[in-house]
Amino acid sequence: ADNRISRISSSIRVIPDFPKPGIMFQDITTLLLDPNAFKDTIDLFVERYKDKNINVVAGIEARGFIFGPPIALAIGAKFVPMRKPKKLPGEVISEEYSLEYGTDTMEMHVGAVQAGERALVVDDLIATGGTLSAAIRLLERVGVVVVECACVIELPELKGRNRLGDKPLFVLVS
Ligand code: PRP
Ligand code: MG
Repeated sequence: ADNRISRISSSIRVIPDFPKPGIMFQDITTLLLDPNAFKDTIDLFVERYKDKNINVVAGIEARGFIFGPPIALAIGAKFVPMRKPKKLPGEVISEEYSLEYGTDTMEMHVGAVQAGERALVVDDLIATGGTLSAAIRLLERVGVVVVECACVIELPELKGRNRLGDKPLFVLVS
């Protein structure tokens, strides 16, 4: 086994009852405070993706903006932000997705990616899978090949993986 995984796992802080009662919040800010754990996290993703001909790293706001860019730089891919509504200044395409209560929207700049490009989608955590599945739909609508999704943490009891269809999901800690 890779002892980097246990260092990463133990650097993640769990905060009970945040943001509401009953939720065990997985706080990656403590991972970021540990330069060895942060470097191990990025290295494990880079080792997996460096030879996969990925030209796009799509990072999901907000915490995909922390892990995505260092991966993109290391593998020589461009970084494309997938943002909450009304944040991107240019022309966007949007995708709605369902939350526990109601819906949210994810946006991406038109022209940021081209049909046929190969993308890795990065976020900190998969829970129900609604967020990642919206990102996949958005990219596939414009002809991008989504090679894989990568997260630091998976909450397996929520079965979010099932919402990604046949799309591979790689996680470090579950
Ligand atoms: C959290 C987390 C993932 C998403 C996972 O983000 O960072 O992006 O939820 O949930 P899902 O698999 O059930 O869709 P959140 O929506 O809280 O927003 P934030 O990252 O901007 O804080
Ligand atoms: Mg998020």
